[in-house]
Amino acid sequence: MIPRYIVNFDLKQLPREKTDVVVIGGGIAGLYTALEISKYANVVLISKKSLDDSNTRWAQGGIAAVTAKSDSPALHRQDTLIAGAGLCSYEAVEVLVHEGPDRLKELIEYGTEFDRDAEGQFELTKEGAHSKRRILHARGDATGAEIVRALSVKARESERITVLENHFVVDVVTSKDECVGALVMKPDGEMYFLESTATVLATGGAGQLYRYTTNPEIATADGIAIAYRAGAKIKDVEFIQFHPTALYYPGAPRFLISEAVRGEGAILRNINGERFMEQYHQQKELAPRDVVARAIVSEMEKTNSSYVYLDITHESEELIKHRFPTIYKYCLKYGLDMTTDWIPVAPACHYIMGGVKTDLNGETSTPRLFACGEVSCSGVHGANRLASNSLSEAVVYGHRIAERIKELQPHEQVSDLWYEQKRSGKTVNTIQQRLKLQKLMLRNVGLKRHEKGLLKAIEEMERMLRYFEGDYHGREAFEYLNLLTSALLTTRAALIREESRGGHYRDDFPKKDDLIWRKHIIQTIDEGVREENNQPDDLE
Ligand code: SIN
Repeated sequence: MIPRYIVNFDLKQLPREKTDVVVIGGGIAGLYTALEISKYANVVLISKKSLDDSNTRWAQGGIAAVTAKSDSPALHRQDTLIAGAGLCSYEAVEVLVHEGPDRLKELIEYGTEFDRDAEGQFELTKEGAHSKRRILHARGDATGAEIVRALSVKARESERITVLENHFVVDVVTSKDECVGALVMKPDGEMYFLESTATVLATGGAGQLYRYTTNPEIATADGIAIAYRAGAKIKDVEFIQFHPTALYYPGAPRFLISEAVRGEGAILRNINGERFMEQYHQQKELAPRDVVARAIVSEMEKTNSSYVYLDITHESEELIKHRFPTIYKYCLKYGLDMTTDWIPVAPACHYIMGGVKTDLNGETSTPRLFACGEVSCSGVHGANRLASNSLSEAVVYGHRIAERIKELQPHEQVSDLWYEQKRSGKTVNTIQQRLKLQKLMLRNVGLKRHEKGLLKAIEEMERMLRYFEGDYHGREAFEYLNLLTSALLTTRAALIREESRGGHYRDDFPKKDDLIWRKHIIQTIDEGVREENNQPDDLE
């Protein structure tokens, strides 16, 4: 059983500190939301590693927002809804496409330098399933790193923001069913209670659920697990996006090869050198990500290979080096020169569309608890996220969260709260268990799923839950427990959804079933699983 808290505590005994708002996570969602809140209140921004280690830092492609005269919010909305495969929230998408351009201006005011041409106009790129060039980028393919750089400088300068690096939030604390703060572990392992009027989860995604991922080590689904334990609703976590093109090379990590490379004309070839995407989708290499990822897997199966090739050798050396300096240098480290060589690539876990259910102000179903960015399920992405919509979502909803928190009054004083669960004293090797979980997910809850594998995975994960009864401490153990919780939620939802849509594909139910499954799967710790109909969108 998953317990309410993963540590025992007594608030009367714990050291206590107080602030207006706690923001957990140091990527774009955390930094931007903290900066917006700091315009009127004090914020403690907590990052489990340094601010340089967030998932945002690795974002290459860019940020999608309407800036060109030939583009419009209506077109951006249409592309987002089509990619989302019938499960987007129409209202949430409306908010995204209309408010994105203003938030972009604020990112620039905060110091982000997007790439511009000689006339000072944004250099816009294209990615899969976008009908227009609308993606802004920075330093070629280092968009995330540039945004984090600019926002970190501002956050560190702010007198209202206290940045705590290498601190880990173990759980959020609830009293009378509302969130009243967080249990924070310092780098030396000491725990304290940080009381707040509001708490924002901006903890990023769950890429470490899988052995092969474009996400860094820190993407351990902490926010989803913390919110679930606190009683918040978790929505649609069966939808996992596998990025079609991660580097596949012996000894190299699954480094992201941006979709913008295909946006600039790269083509996919199987190991026999044959271009294949036209057999799968009319948009070829720029079809929605789930389509391209599955097409690649089909070609890998047909040719009995573990990879396909990405070929951009027909473009000029100058363009490649200017647009993709990071990718170019990274590949070169492994002896691959993308101006002359085809790059071996394979799909890898990249993004989770589901997460902690939020309303249009980023508030979860637990009052005073908010979620922003990848950890949240605002309804923007539906069953499959449109490329480069994630950075826009983080700033659009980060701004709205700040506006909503402004209206909150402090909660009643919390005094006598404690939690105790008996422990068996047994310890488990966390590293080994995490690897076992990642393999289990890859084999049974990966790009293609089947009832038999899903049942097997659930059975095994339920056995692994016994770890919660043992004696564990430290960040790695807590991260493992968060991953395990999130894995179970994803696998359960994947078993229930008997159809294929977006980032969820079932071999045994290979078709999209709108009659039955235009629905969301909601899970809570108290009530288990519930299904909820989607609101109609304008594509019907
Ligand atoms: C990429 O550059 O391909 C990733 C962008 C994204 O995930 O939106």
